[in-house]
Amino acid sequence: MANGTGLEAGIIVGSLDNSENIQLQRAFERANIKAAMMMPEDIAIGINLNSTFYHDRISIDSIPGFVVRGIGFTTMTRSFYRMDTLYALEARGKVLVNGARATETAMNKCLTSVALDAAGISTPATIVAENLKHALASFEKLGGDVLIKPVYGSQGIGIFRVQDKGYAENVFLEMFRNGHVFYVQEFHPWACPPGITASHPFDVRVVVIGGGIAGAMIRESPLETAWKTNVHQGAVPRAYDPPEEVRELARRAARAIHLDIAGVDLLFSAKTQDWVVLEVNCAPGWTGLAKVCDADIPARIVEFYRQRIRK
Ligand SMILES: Nc1ncnc2c1ncn2[C@@H]1O[C@H](COP(=O)(O)OP(=O)(O)O)[C@@H](O)[C@H]1O
Ligand SMILES: [Mg+2]
Repeated sequence: MANGTGLEAGIIVGSLDNSENIQLQRAFERANIKAAMMMPEDIAIGINLNSTFYHDRISIDSIPGFVVRGIGFTTMTRSFYRMDTLYALEARGKVLVNGARATETAMNKCLTSVALDAAGISTPATIVAENLKHALASFEKLGGDVLIKPVYGSQGIGIFRVQDKGYAENVFLEMFRNGHVFYVQEFHPWACPPGITASHPFDVRVVVIGGGIAGAMIRESPLETAWKTNVHQGAVPRAYDPPEEVRELARRAARAIHLDIAGVDLLFSAKTQDWVVLEVNCAPGWTGLAKVCDADIPARIVEFYRQRIRK
C-alpha cells in the first residue's frame, strides 16, 4: 500500500477490503499512478488552518484527485457529513470522479428519477411523498401493481412488490408510523425486444465511462417469478452487444445525472414495448460483467482519471 506521500490519486471507498476496490488500486499501480484507498470517515476537514484535510496516514492536501467508489453505510447525519467531505474536496480544487453532485444524485432514487424525467428520458411512473394521503392515492394512480423502494438503496435490497390494495394500505400506514418516505413506482412486466431471447425476467446493465460505452450485459433471473434482476439477487449475467438505441439511451442517462462513470439499468417493458431506464448507479461493480464481457473496467476508470487530471 502507498505510504501516503507523493500520491497521485485517492480512491474513496466504503470498505477497504472490497475485492473490486482492491482491483481498482492494482489497476492504478499497473498504470504507474500512485494511489491510496481511504474511507470518508477517516478524513477530517480543516478550515482556516495549515491543512485543509487531515488523515492519519495520508496527506490528502497533496492528492490532485479522487475516484469515489462509495461512502459506506451509517447514520443519516454521518452520511450527510461524508457527502460534505466530497463537496469540500471539490471546493479545494480536487478532481472527483464521479463529482459530488452527481454522486449525491445517483445515490438518491428520488433525485435520479427527477433528473431522468427532466431530461426527457423514459423512466417508470413514480410518486415520491412524505404524506400518507399521497402514498395511499399512489397505489391506484400507478395501476394497482407497484414497487416500493428505499430512496437510498442498492442491489435490489428492500424493494418489494404490492398488487393488493388492502395490503398496500397496511404497508403504507406502518411505513408512515415508522417515519419512512414513500418511493412508489409502477411495475413494468418484462418483454423481449427484437434481438434478445430470454425465458425469465431480465434487464440490461450498460456501463458508461467518460461518455463512451465501456461494457454491457443482460442480467437474467434464474426463476420465472423472480423479477429482481440484480446480480446480488441471483440473476445470471449474459453477454450482450447493445444496439445503438440502447447505447444512446445509456449515454443520455449518464449525462442527465452528470456522471463520468455510470451503471445504467434498462428494462424492455411489455407495457410500452419500449425501453425504460430504471436507475443509474454511480459506482457500478464489474464482477458480473467481467464474466461475460472482456472490457477491463478498472483500467478504463484509471485511464479516464488520468485524462481528467491532465486537463
Ligand atoms: N419499475 C420496475 N418494474 C419492473 N422491475 C423493476 C422496476 N424497478 C426495478 N425493477 C427490478 O428491480 C431491480 C432493482 O431495482 P433498482 O431500481 O435498480 O434498485 P437497486 O438500486 O436496488 O438496484 C432492477 O434491476 C429490476 O430487475
Ligand atoms: Mg439497480
